[in-house]
Amino acid sequence: MKISLRLILSLVSIIMLVVSLFTLYQVRHEKRVLIDELDRRAGVLAEGLQESIESHLANAKFKEIERIVEKFGNRERLAGIAIYDQEFKPLAVTKSLAEYLTHPPYGLNSVFASASPQGRLQDFPPDRKIHAFMYPFQNKDQMVVLAIFHNANHIEARVKVIWQEGFIRWFIQALLISLVTLLIIRWNIMAPLNRAADWIKELRLGGVEDTRPPLPKDIFGSLAKEVTHIAQSLTSARQAAEQEARLRQSGESLWTPERLKEFARNKLQNRPLIVVSNREPYMHVKKGKETECIVPASGLVTALEPVLRACGGTWIAHGGGDADRDMVDSKDRLNVPPDEPQYRLRRVWLSKEEEDGYYYGFSNEGLWPLCHIAHARPLFKPEDWGTYQYVNKKFAEVALEEMRGMEEPFLLVQDYHFGLLPRLIKEKRPDARVALFWHIPWPNPESIGICPWARELLHGMLGADLVGFHIQFHCNNFLETVDRYLETRIEWERFAVNRQNHTTWVKPFPISVDFTQKPDDIFSPDEKKSEKEIILKTLGIKAKYLGVGVDRIDYTKGIVERFRGVEHFLEKNKQYQGQFTFVELGAPSRTLLKRYHDLIGEVEGEADRINHRFRTKDWKPIIFLRKHHSHKDITPYYKAADICLVTSLHDGMNLVAKEFVAARDDASGVLILSSFAGASRELRDALIVNPYDVEQMAEALRYGLEMNLEDKMNRMKRMREAVRENNIFRWGANLIDELAQIRTIESDKTPT
Ligand code: G6P
Repeated sequence: MKISLRLILSLVSIIMLVVSLFTLYQVRHEKRVLIDELDRRAGVLAEGLQESIESHLANAKFKEIERIVEKFGNRERLAGIAIYDQEFKPLAVTKSLAEYLTHPPYGLNSVFASASPQGRLQDFPPDRKIHAFMYPFQNKDQMVVLAIFHNANHIEARVKVIWQEGFIRWFIQALLISLVTLLIIRWNIMAPLNRAADWIKELRLGGVEDTRPPLPKDIFGSLAKEVTHIAQSLTSARQAAEQEARLRQSGESLWTPERLKEFARNKLQNRPLIVVSNREPYMHVKKGKETECIVPASGLVTALEPVLRACGGTWIAHGGGDADRDMVDSKDRLNVPPDEPQYRLRRVWLSKEEEDGYYYGFSNEGLWPLCHIAHARPLFKPEDWGTYQYVNKKFAEVALEEMRGMEEPFLLVQDYHFGLLPRLIKEKRPDARVALFWHIPWPNPESIGICPWARELLHGMLGADLVGFHIQFHCNNFLETVDRYLETRIEWERFAVNRQNHTTWVKPFPISVDFTQKPDDIFSPDEKKSEKEIILKTLGIKAKYLGVGVDRIDYTKGIVERFRGVEHFLEKNKQYQGQFTFVELGAPSRTLLKRYHDLIGEVEGEADRINHRFRTKDWKPIIFLRKHHSHKDITPYYKAADICLVTSLHDGMNLVAKEFVAARDDASGVLILSSFAGASRELRDALIVNPYDVEQMAEALRYGLEMNLEDKMNRMKRMREAVRENNIFRWGANLIDELAQIRTIESDKTPT
């Protein structure tokens, strides 16, 4: 109320000021016009009279002059005439004027001095306004002034009217503007704010499901965004607290972020966790004039990010975004997640040559196809190997810098980009506890033998105290490889490699996802019901069943094989033509490499070919959405899909399978999963397929779509239980636990 009153008073004052200024201007203008009009009329009259007055003055006919003065003194608005000599003495004056003209008119002296005519407004008693126009002319050797007086009361009257009109205008404007402003404030600001206040109250009391406040985005966009974050944090915290309480009640030993945080604090003894990976968890990219922060499509990032959020620490990674440099401090650091910082990201810069040789070259043209049995020929170039060694050293220096001053630091090295890093660290910091987690498969010893620097790579990896893979099978392959190529003593019963007075433990740690539901994953019941319809409508498709696939566009993911499976399914089961649509959400990846670049064309070509074969007016079997999709974009697809296809030709784990399961809080939906993905070892209730077998894929699709609800739900519930139990927090805890148990004092090790 106070605000409204203050606002209205301010508005009224401003309007008053503006209207007064305009009125003042109008008054001046109008006055000028009226005076000019009098000047003009008086001037014309003066010129007309000049000649006869001159001749009468010359002949000293004063009677005549008085007659003229009387005659012209009685015209409309004309108050009278007077003639003055140089001593300002009146030679003749209209009688009716004489009693008021006790003094010569103001300005007479300046008219004589300048010898040019002038008009002036003068006050005449008792309250008359008179306009005196003084017109000088030469009479023989002396100058006389003919003064013509007009009544000017009408000018004052006009000024009064203008001020009155101004006041009325001000009053009406002030009234209308205040009213309109009040209504605008009430409808557009107060009403949404009141609604938001009620909503915040509900939120506080725990009665809100949707974390988006009821605030219009056009006016309250940034406020709505911030409030959404607060609501999400509050909801997460509340959910976590409820979950903790539930778990305590039921005595369950589920891993939660809070439990991991506590566990890590204990095990790490207040040392920050240090993680090194090539891919960074947050990448800043330029989009026009704006800078956007994206989460890259990477299973490694999906898995590790919640662990860092829970434990805190420093994540060292390549700053690959084109706006990354703009966001760091002088030490190349920034706190992330941007909305709610919980750990530190240290960016490492690579030149184009370094990126080409180390990332595109040795890592992705060499090791990636080497480790994945997907029938892509690995390419090993000596110069790439040189750059790989150089970049590993570069990251090692950064990691050593981050460890400075820390006793027995904990370092988690990630993936095939950093095979040499563990030894580089250990050489400088033998007290460090170093784990290397290999996120991709480890093939058999024969395959590894293709790499000309296999021994050097193994030597580098064995610098770690702990080497982790997703599954036991990959651990076994690794130990066999070490056995084949290096002189070591392998303890098969303990899965340990003893070499040069150092032990490396080799263990499986099946990676996972954060199973806890994030607030932005929650739909209101109405939204949930129609999610499939909304998706299909947006895609411009009419279909009854929806299949989904989410991948980086990588030849190991079996995307083309998947499309062929869909094609064969439709061929064999004609009743599903026009009914089943498969949507592939494909994020372009490593496109500077020809194999990846060509693959996009292959995938598109295959989708087009199959669509051309089956499509109808408002239906097509395959929709390929080629772009980077955020977690928020993908979740609705997971939730709406009848079936999710994960058909990797070879995959360390594959977290899409687990993400799909985690998203299905309705305990429905069917997962078709490649037997060559690590996830198939845990998700045994998925329909396990060989992606090279189109018959089997087609049959799995039919079976999945026709599965009865009970079977579907039972399978999904069991899979959800598996992912819930073995979530990413358990993975993090197991890894930290193993690392904490390692003795870094060399005397404790069994010598080889
Ligand atoms: C796999 C690797 C990760 C990598 C991800 C995305 O999951 O194991 O290390 O981050 O692919 O690939 P990119 O090359 O884009 O990082």
